Amino acid sequence: MPQTSLLPGTLGELRSSKLYSEARLAKRTVKDEMRENLIARLREKKPLFAGIVGYDDTVVPQVANAILSRQNFILLGLRGQAKSRILRALSGLLDAHAPFVAGCEIRDNPYAPLCRRCRTLIADQEEATPIAWMTPDDRYVEKLATPDVTVADLIGDLDPIKAARGGHDLASELTMHYGLLPRANRGIFAVNELPDLAGKIQVALFNILQEGDVQIKGYPVRLALDVALVFSANPEDYTARGKIVTPLKDRIGSEIRTHYASTVDEGIAITKQEAWTARNLGTLEIPTFLRETVEQVAFLARDDKRVDKRSGVSQVAPVRKVVSAVTP
Ligand SMILES: Nc1ncnc2c1ncn2[C@@H]1O[C@H](COP(=O)(O)OP(=O)(O)OP(=O)(O)O)[C@@H](O)[C@H]1O
Ligand SMILES: [Mg+2]
Repeated sequence: MPQTSLLPGTLGELRSSKLYSEARLAKRTVKDEMRENLIARLREKKPLFAGIVGYDDTVVPQVANAILSRQNFILLGLRGQAKSRILRALSGLLDAHAPFVAGCEIRDNPYAPLCRRCRTLIADQEEATPIAWMTPDDRYVEKLATPDVTVADLIGDLDPIKAARGGHDLASELTMHYGLLPRANRGIFAVNELPDLAGKIQVALFNILQEGDVQIKGYPVRLALDVALVFSANPEDYTARGKIVTPLKDRIGSEIRTHYASTVDEGIAITKQEAWTARNLGTLEIPTFLRETVEQVAFLARDDKRVDKRSGVSQVAPVRKVVSAVTP
């Protein structure tokens, strides 16, 4: 893996490098990149998601298919079924280093810049245009949806002060204050609890996905962003009428159901991995019967009619019990 200091620092150097050539990167979208890296991972027979237990024949192949088909997808499942964990692990399918035009708020592709600032900069400085680099972590953006999220938060807003300072027209793209989604350009944008987003925001998301533009306060703004959109939701909320606007639902290529551990042993394996039990107090043995009992309680509770079927019993519950069973 190259060090950042060894990576090309200008557009000219980038162009002459083999790995980051224009032929390779100009048209390569985030989804192409994920697909390519996933195929490499499958060829090497490496696990796609380290630490995910019991999904090898169910969830993982479906996620892999969605990525291979370059689709946006949604994970549908109850509390604590590793939905967020899987979404976060997707950044592992991004390149170790990705170039962008230095200083660009939306991390423009040096070979295909979207924003006017970068287009002007490149026209002006040509091959000397400075290039910066981002890591997979820099390229994963997550938003927990709540009903009060606004178009300004997610997409952006017109910034009258910026317009006045720069002497621009209010409708000029140079006066845009970018929201979370444009800042996730060339990365993965994950929205947790999608049905909690107001209809208006869902429409804005759909527009970006479909047409590459949005309207902000009545001004049309062109933003053909390159993002892989992934979502999570509770299955009942997702299917409830009116919670998701149909055009958006139509654009989510795959719906993937997650589930709880199917055997007590799987439950134990997850809990063992997640519970903090190594406390530097010598060797600690947690008896198997204790682990089994804790896990069995979660299994029974999931089937109990007193437990709300909409939330289930999170895998976090047994994890928490084991952590607190170790008192010292
Ligand atoms: N199948 C699994 N394999 C590995 N870890 C798991 C599994 N299921 C649950 N966990 C663990 O349970 C915890 C909760 O997972 P996570 O936060 O990803 O759940 P979630 O589905 O996003 O839940 P919520 O709906 O509450 O957001 C994490 O520590 C996660 O690692
Ligand atoms: Mg979650």
